[in-house]
Amino acid sequence: MILSVCVGSSCHLKGSYDVIESFKKLIEKYNVADKIELRACFCLNRCSDGVSAKAGDTYILNLCPTNTEEKFINEIMPLLG
Ligand code: FES
Repeated sequence: MILSVCVGSSCHLKGSYDVIESFKKLIEKYNVADKIELRACFCLNRCSDGVSAKAGDTYILNLCPTNTEEKFINEIMPLLG
């Protein structure tokens, strides 16, 4: 599954790069490097709900550097099947 984190200007200002760094660590911590391909992407048109990401076809919204683990466990891991 591709996990794309928005690095558009609005999300960037809200901490996209810290979110990406955090996801990198979580992918290692939960040993799912073979299941998740982390990418940066341009604006997902959900700027007001940023930091925005897409896991497969599912939007993961309202990310911030401090809630990535909670979102990872509750919203992203269940999509891995
Ligand atoms: S800048 Fe991230 S959704 Fe628009």
